Amino acid sequence: MRLDKYLCEAGIGTRSEVKKLISKKKVTVNDRCADDPGMHIAPGSDAVFADGKEITFKEHVYYMLNKPAGVITASKDRNDKTVLDFFPDVLKDRLEPVGRLDKDTEGLLLLTDDGALIHRLISPKYHVDKEYEVHIPEMLSEEAVKRIEEGLDIGDDKPTLPAKVKIPDRMCEPKCGAVAVINLIIHEGRFHQVKRMAEAVGSKVLYLKRLRMGSIVLDERLGTGEYRELTQQEIDYLYEDSKGGKR
Ligand code: URA
Repeated sequence: MRLDKYLCEAGIGTRSEVKKLISKKKVTVNDRCADDPGMHIAPGSDAVFADGKEITFKEHVYYMLNKPAGVITASKDRNDKTVLDFFPDVLKDRLEPVGRLDKDTEGLLLLTDDGALIHRLISPKYHVDKEYEVHIPEMLSEEAVKRIEEGLDIGDDKPTLPAKVKIPDRMCEPKCGAVAVINLIIHEGRFHQVKRMAEAVGSKVLYLKRLRMGSIVLDERLGTGEYRELTQQEIDYLYEDSKGGKR
C-alpha cells in the first residue's frame, strides 16, 4: 500500500496534510526517514511512525456522524448531498452507513467498512435498540403510550415489537412547531418506522433525531455534519450489542 494512503486511512490527515508531514521528515518506515509519499509499505509488517507515534494498521475503520437534515443516507447520489460527502475521499471509498436515516432525520449515524458488523447491527434477528428524540404536536395519551409499548399495527405483516416511550432525560426545546418531545426506543429498523408508529397512534413526527444505537450514544460535542472515530471501547460495545444480548 502507498505510504500516503496508509497514513490517511489511519486517520492521520488528508492526502495533502500527510504529504506535508512526510516532507517535514516526520514520518519513518522501519526507523528510516520516509521522503516519498508514494513509497510502498507492507501494512502489518513495516513499522510506520508519524510524529513519533506508531501508526498501526487498521483492518477496519468505525465512525459516528451527527447527520444533518437534508442529506441522504447513501454512498452516492446524483442530486443530493450524501452522508459520505462529509468524509475525505480516502474514507469515502471505504465507509458504508449502518442502516438508514431519512433525509429529514438528524443525529447518530454509524459508518464502517466492517461488513459483518453492519450485517448484525441492522439484522432484525439481533434487535439492537435505537433511541430517538421525537418532536410531536401534543403529548401522547396514556392509551397511545400503552399501544406503542405493546406493539403496534403499522400496516406491515406483523405488528412492531414492543417499544418504550420515555420522558427525555434533559429538558429539550420542541422544534419545527412541536409542543412535546418524547424519547422512543425501538428494536427494529423498518422503513419510516418512527413516523409510521406516530401516525398509527394519531400523532405526527415534526422533528426526529437519533440519539443512540445499541450502546453508542451520539457525542454531544459533534455539531451537525461533524464526525469522529469510535473509541476501541465503543467498538467492543457494538460487538457485544450485536451478539444479541445486552451487556
Ligand atoms: N424512523 C423514521 O421514521 N425515520 C428515520 O429516519 C428513522 C426511524
